[in-house]
Amino acid sequence: MSNTPPKAAKGNFSEVPGKYCVRDINLAQEGNMLIDWAESRMPVLAILREKYKKTKPFKGYKIAGCLHVTKETAVLIRTFADAGAEISWSGCNPLSTNDAVASALAADGISIYAWYGNHEDFYWCIDRTIDFKPHLTLDDGCDLINTVHENYVDLAKNYIIGGTEETTTGIHRLRSRSAAGNLFYPVYAVNDAETKWDFDNVFGTGQSTLDGILRATSVLLAGKNVVVAGHGHCGSGVALRAKGMGANTIITEVKATAALKAVLQGHEAMSMDEAAKVGDIFVTATGVKDILRKNHFESMRDGAIICNTGHYDAEINIPELEAVSKSVRTIRPNCEEYTLNNGNKIFLLAQGRLVNLAAAEGHPSEVMDMSFANQFMSHLRLVEAHKSGEKLPIEVIDLPVEQDEFIAETKLKSMNICLDKLSADQLSYINDYNQGT
Ligand code: ADE
Repeated sequence: MSNTPPKAAKGNFSEVPGKYCVRDINLAQEGNMLIDWAESRMPVLAILREKYKKTKPFKGYKIAGCLHVTKETAVLIRTFADAGAEISWSGCNPLSTNDAVASALAADGISIYAWYGNHEDFYWCIDRTIDFKPHLTLDDGCDLINTVHENYVDLAKNYIIGGTEETTTGIHRLRSRSAAGNLFYPVYAVNDAETKWDFDNVFGTGQSTLDGILRATSVLLAGKNVVVAGHGHCGSGVALRAKGMGANTIITEVKATAALKAVLQGHEAMSMDEAAKVGDIFVTATGVKDILRKNHFESMRDGAIICNTGHYDAEINIPELEAVSKSVRTIRPNCEEYTLNNGNKIFLLAQGRLVNLAAAEGHPSEVMDMSFANQFMSHLRLVEAHKSGEKLPIEVIDLPVEQDEFIAETKLKSMNICLDKLSADQLSYINDYNQGT
């Protein structure tokens, strides 16, 4: 285990070694109000919390989490804590921690190491959460699992009972780790639950990405050419919402079916080489590196705005942007103006990091309710399997459909929406292979 003293804690930080390191513990009250706001919009988690605070199924279990420290995440953490878990936490992106929320959690007694702008100390924070010797890991983007598997092998092989992964990028990393025979404990693919990716990835990313762009720029979207790289769940949400605000939407894709879907949904599709010449706003949502690079920057219109909503900051090649620029200045929060050698200006938002979390507040509480209900229930499964001696396969595991159904039904009930029910006659009709015209 690393005993390196906290570099960042030498500055203006609130730190209790072995317990927490946050920006300013005095922000706790502000954080509590944000968390209360989120909590009132997360009814599925509230139901789980009410149920399991009585039975405390996580008593004796420690969970280390590496996931954006937002007001919604705080509701998840408090749900785990009420259900008996001990928690240690770090953020999963240097620019996504809400400092007030982090302080509120530290004041709650959560062992949290997170602050906005912890670029240099990102892995130091993760290490501290591992010092806590977790039985379970909860990831968003796989950095915690990777750190445990690379630097704490004994813990990964012999101590940790399982984990979960929140995001598409993390699932890709995990599947290749598993295929290479380097995954040491079972991990539930929370991202792949229907009540996660059909809602969080589409409607959450769609709304919060535009929110981030608007907070960083306040530009008018109507009439703009908005180029979205990638028409997966996240990109399709961004394109859908941009279209709804009156933008002309252009999709770039490498997958034929995804491009075709985009076209039939009313977007244009073209290569990035073509799109670079006509776009006003560019959003990368691919999970792939170097989507926007030197030749694109050089052919962009004067005043183009570029940002990323994928997990890592590799989608926009910033060194290449710097190489074709003669100057850069911060013109407003989360908005850097690059003046290119050709005289054009390009505005880079949120340093190429997740614009929805760095420049806004991430997905709204209402969708995170379902994603985090999936997280909670998946950890419950891991603990129940551990208690009963059930051996889960050491691989990336899909969640059962009953979990999705429970979460979707509970969410609908909280919205006072009733479902129809098939009659016995209708049920036998759909299952009767003799039925025809
Ligand atoms: N990912 C996207 N939005 C989020 C949020 N509000 N909280 C935690 N993780 C997120």
